Amino acid sequence: MHAIQLVAPSLSGLRRTVLADPQPGPGEVLVRLRAAALNYIDLAVATERFPGARFPMIPVSDGAGEVVALGPDVEDVEDVRVGMRVVPHFMPDWHSGPLEQRRVRRMRGITLPGSLAEYVAVPAASVVPLPAHLDFAQGATLPVAATTAWNAVRSAQVRPGSVVVLLGTGGVSLFALQFAKASGATVILASSSEEKLERGRRLGADHLVDYVARPDWDAAVMDITSGRGADLVVESVGGATFARSITAAAVGGTVFTVGFVGGAHAQVDVLAIMSKALRIVGNNTGSVADLREAVRAIAAHRIEPVIDRRFGFDEADDAYAVLAEGRTHVGKLAIVHERG
Ligand SMILES: NC(=O)c1ccc[n+]([C@@H]2O[C@H](COP(=O)([O-])OP(=O)(O)OC[C@H]3O[C@@H](n4cnc5c(N)ncnc54)[C@H](OP(=O)(O)O)[C@@H]3O)[C@@H](O)[C@H]2O)c1
Repeated sequence: MHAIQLVAPSLSGLRRTVLADPQPGPGEVLVRLRAAALNYIDLAVATERFPGARFPMIPVSDGAGEVVALGPDVEDVEDVRVGMRVVPHFMPDWHSGPLEQRRVRRMRGITLPGSLAEYVAVPAASVVPLPAHLDFAQGATLPVAATTAWNAVRSAQVRPGSVVVLLGTGGVSLFALQFAKASGATVILASSSEEKLERGRRLGADHLVDYVARPDWDAAVMDITSGRGADLVVESVGGATFARSITAAAVGGTVFTVGFVGGAHAQVDVLAIMSKALRIVGNNTGSVADLREAVRAIAAHRIEPVIDRRFGFDEADDAYAVLAEGRTHVGKLAIVHERG
């Protein structure tokens, strides 16, 4: 099969190659991949900021395709069939329930083959059918970002009247925006340009804050909410914003902690965490069941993932370069296979 390998942890380490086709083992299905989509974690793997990968490896955690073969016994144990359009989950051993270390050791695009290949063999229990209204590139955007955003909105029990603060217009934020609006929440979106804020407004964001013009965006959140603050802050940035996220949260609010694009270390006001009885919730993507629920919500609300650009298979370097620039994309970057 055709594949792209990352031969070393470097943005110049992507190489097109030909490898033996994988075969589905017991409990597995063979998926012909049709598209992949980048996450920040793919950039972190390619720049040696996320451990676990052994090089050379097939990168990119997220993808979508169709089932072309079933491994032994699969028909008996799982509801998958040849020809089904599917999304293989990022963490294929975490089927449901709480996070346990043993369930997240194997990660596609890090410790397992990723999506820059024609075929991949994955556990049958880890694939989720693609909603009919999405194409393969849109489907490829779902496992990491949509699952995480869904878990954020669900963790804070977002409902009509809830106030949700989102930082930036990256993949996680825009899925969170779409899920929060589908749940009836008021959304405050902070981004670095008027143009991106306008994209957010068109997706339903109620209040827009330019965090470059207004670095004290937490104060802006307090102004907008008449001093009450946000029920949920999706903390997709990390060190650069964490302290302000705590300020922006309402009493009893949730700071859903997922991101490190703005660094992994922060100085925080622990008194504010205590006095407001905040829920600081860490999240590590989620289970197959979480992805399945997110996909059900996407199907029910006919949510369309926001794809900034679609690159060809031979343009994978360009897609990584855009992600590495930071802040030049809105939503997701997809890589479409030749047949996609
Ligand atoms: N732990 C988990 O479960 C989990 C799961 C998924 C992702 N993540 C992490 O979550 C983070 C975001 O992922 P992603 O895929 O959405 O990334 P992304 O698509 O690259 O988006 C990142 C966005 O962050 C915004 N940003 C950067 N600095 C900011 C600042 N100081 N204030 C406000 N916004 C800022 C920018 O938005 P603008 O361009 O609009 O300004 C940028 O586009 C990454 O660190 C990723 O690894 C974690």
